[in-house]
Amino acid sequence: MTFSAVAEAEFARIVSKYPNKRAALIPVLRLAQDEFEYLSVNAMEYVAERLELPPSKVLQVATFYTMFKKRPGGTYHIEVCTSVPCCMMGGYSILRYLEQKLGITVGETTPDRRFTITEAECLAACGRAPLIQVNSEYYEFLTPERIDEILANLP
Ligand code: FES
Repeated sequence: MTFSAVAEAEFARIVSKYPNKRAALIPVLRLAQDEFEYLSVNAMEYVAERLELPPSKVLQVATFYTMFKKRPGGTYHIEVCTSVPCCMMGGYSILRYLEQKLGITVGETTPDRRFTITEAECLAACGRAPLIQVNSEYYEFLTPERIDEILANLP
């Protein structure tokens, strides 16, 4: 497992912005996820080797953040915030609507491998609740109608 030439150039660019390689762990994990689709054990070991970190440190960080996928998922990873402010504004209604619409439950991927739904802790946009994050994009002030529109407009 190695980075492509393009990812290798991005790796060098990322690492150059930090005082040492180890400090670049989070952006390099993001790069590895983009490159390898998800963070398998092999991918995490590769990142550890490249950053001269113990694999256990990489695993700790990768498992702490919900934005890092530890197993293959859909093209679109839909994270539904269900922390208290979003919950009070209908976060679970949004989650149930998505589950019903896509025919899957939290943690599952649609049979066509297009969508995966997960619950997320606070996504730091509480004032615009309820919201979801689809890959790196936020969609806020959600309603069922707005979700229909969002899903219909995904390429
Ligand atoms: Fe949902 Fe903070 S609780 S963004």
